[in-house]
Amino acid sequence: MKAIVVKDQNAGLAGMKLVEMPEPSAAINDVLVQVYAAGITGDELSWPSTWVDRAGAERTPSIPGHELAGVVTTLGYGTTGLSVGQRVFGLQDWYRNGSLAEYVAIEARNLAPLPDDIDFNNGNAPVMPGLTAWQGLFQHGELKAGQRVLVHGAAGIVGSMAVQLAREIGAYVIGTGRAAHREIALNFGINEFVDLDGNALEDINKVDLVFDVLGGDIAKRSLPVIRKGGKFVSITGWNEEQVDGVQNIDFVVEADRSQLVEIAKRFGEGRFKTNIGKVIPFDNAIATYNSTDRVKGKIIVHVRS
Ligand SMILES: NC(=O)c1ccc[n+]([C@@H]2O[C@H](COP(=O)([O-])OP(=O)(O)OC[C@H]3O[C@@H](n4cnc5c(N)ncnc54)[C@H](OP(=O)(O)O)[C@@H]3O)[C@@H](O)[C@H]2O)c1
Repeated sequence: MKAIVVKDQNAGLAGMKLVEMPEPSAAINDVLVQVYAAGITGDELSWPSTWVDRAGAERTPSIPGHELAGVVTTLGYGTTGLSVGQRVFGLQDWYRNGSLAEYVAIEARNLAPLPDDIDFNNGNAPVMPGLTAWQGLFQHGELKAGQRVLVHGAAGIVGSMAVQLAREIGAYVIGTGRAAHREIALNFGINEFVDLDGNALEDINKVDLVFDVLGGDIAKRSLPVIRKGGKFVSITGWNEEQVDGVQNIDFVVEADRSQLVEIAKRFGEGRFKTNIGKVIPFDNAIATYNSTDRVKGKIIVHVRS
């Protein structure tokens, strides 16, 4: 099969190579999926799981890209819940070879059925942002109707998903970003916009939850905006700053079939909007990822038609 691999951690995206390699086989509880659409998650090449296995042993060459939509071609021994020929979408385990390939072997539980009315590109798009936003807001942030949430990077891939989910449950959503993001964030449903270059973050009324996708100084400055008993949830690393009475949480997104089903329902019913920046053919993926032109929104790699 054709696959994109990385071998050299220092080379980052520039180290990607398109190669021929054997198809993987489906292990116990796995399925083999023929990949139609794939995607990379922001910083995954900087995560240890791209380079070593769970025991810390080197596992390169590894195939990046953990988001996928495709069709099940083989069931592994003892696999239940999915069938051959079924359209699926989901998130590959961070320590296994990923979806920038014609085939991927993946645990069935990491996948959910992809409804017929969602094409593969649109099915792939919400995998990482949908799961990340769902887990950040509801599992870790315990956001409830009527609460106030500050979503950083509200026009971005994860942020725009968080805005839609938070509004849907009846939270008041303050979105942040650059001045140019105001309209985009409003279109995703925010109640209020804070331009991080112009407005003072410190001036907003207290919130119950901050969902952070930016980290650094913005993460530190966000803590005083949270009420006592509230939470700071991050996906970019541990917030070194601490404030009494505010819980700091940093997490990495996990696959979850029931959450994927819920997310797909919202897109299938046309209630949610994807944040796709560009759809590219598989053969152009390396060039696009290495281009100096910044793509706003999710890059979807169209692996097969
Ligand atoms: N832990 C996890 O499980 C997990 C899961 C998914 C993603 N992530 C990480 O989360 C981060 C966000 O991912 P994403 O895919 O949502 O990225 P993204 O689409 O680039 O979203 C970030 C948004 O914030 C804006 N922004 C960046 N810096 C800003 C600043 N200083 N002031 C105002 N706005 C700013 C960006 O604008 P510009 O485009 O103009 O810069 C963009 O609109 C990445 O670092 C990614 O690796 C972690």
